Amino acid sequence: MRVRRWVYAMVWGSTLLAFLSKLTVLPSTLRFAMWAVAVVVNFPGVVLVGQTLGYLFVRTPIGHLAAALLTCLLLEPMLRWIEWPLRRPGQDPQEGTRGVTRRALLLSGVGLGGSGLVAGYSYWVERKNYQLHAYRLYLADLPQGLEGLRLVLMADLHCGPVNRPGDLLPAIRMANRCKPDLILLPGDFVHVSKSYFSQAAELIDQLHCAIPDGILLGWGNHDHWNDVEAARQTLSQTQGQILVQQRRLLQADRTFSSSGKGLWLAGVDDLWEGKPDVAQVLRGLPRDQPRLVLAHNPDTAEEQKCSRVDLMVSGHTHGGQIQVPVLGTPMLPSRYGQKYASGFVQGPSYPVYVTRGLGVGGLPVRLGVPPEVTLFELHRSPDRTRIEPMSS
Ligand SMILES: [Fe+2]
Repeated sequence: MRVRRWVYAMVWGSTLLAFLSKLTVLPSTLRFAMWAVAVVVNFPGVVLVGQTLGYLFVRTPIGHLAAALLTCLLLEPMLRWIEWPLRRPGQDPQEGTRGVTRRALLLSGVGLGGSGLVAGYSYWVERKNYQLHAYRLYLADLPQGLEGLRLVLMADLHCGPVNRPGDLLPAIRMANRCKPDLILLPGDFVHVSKSYFSQAAELIDQLHCAIPDGILLGWGNHDHWNDVEAARQTLSQTQGQILVQQRRLLQADRTFSSSGKGLWLAGVDDLWEGKPDVAQVLRGLPRDQPRLVLAHNPDTAEEQKCSRVDLMVSGHTHGGQIQVPVLGTPMLPSRYGQKYASGFVQGPSYPVYVTRGLGVGGLPVRLGVPPEVTLFELHRSPDRTRIEPMSS
């Protein structure tokens, strides 16, 4: 019974930590650590509740309780199996104890060793193993002057106790090596506290792009959760331009304007915490000019249909951070299953590109889903939007 008692004590103890992590008087790093422990220990329940009732629900007190309860129910068969030799009728208790000890030792040795290796790799290696995903992006009606335009997409910095500037700097350097004309950052600049917006600002100011004022920023759910007004105040002092429920026209001569002919770049607010309105931000635009929309959450494409959007660029899902062969990604903060995990996806009325993002949220690891810097080289398409991989 000892194993069960210890496991259940850990589950409910970590649930208590999840409750305590709501106390704003505690330092943000400590609150994040408490929340991370609760997620790790209650992982099976968190996944189940998140996938069925949504990841916003997991963050509520009832969500914590539901996750802990489900974790206990899911672990029960495994605990019974571990404790099974103790309950065999007529067995010599000494022998049974030795059996349990041997089995427990073997299981814990293999389990701890294997998990340690996987956890170490996913935290220290894969989490920082930035991959460049380079594509030719074909857009209808692209002006000749914008042929070959290089556009970098980077989302989900999640600056905080885990994603430190030193961890994210290689991604900034990778983006700069792409020699971009424009850089799009659709949100989640911080993870746990508004105090980290200054770190995001420093990173943004280390980006280089050819077109003046060509770094465009949007808000994610974490920016709202950590004070979007603080985000606006801090990030508006960088070289980045906030593009939320606003639009700008990149003309064929590669300068910005508010009217004329060229490529329209529009940004909408976050789907979970803001008031995104794709139709409103594109209202009145000429139908024969291409439109590219920044939206943090790719589910926006499902819930905000529009007659012409050539491409929506999003982040938010982080590719799920962990990919299990056959099963896919156990935790994906989307209402549409695995559809918007990552890559080029056809939505109900327009296509979306979902980047895996740079930082991590929830579990501080990546496994099978390395972080991504995306490069698009724009070309004119005779008809619909399409992308093809390009050797960078
Ligand atoms: Fe994110």
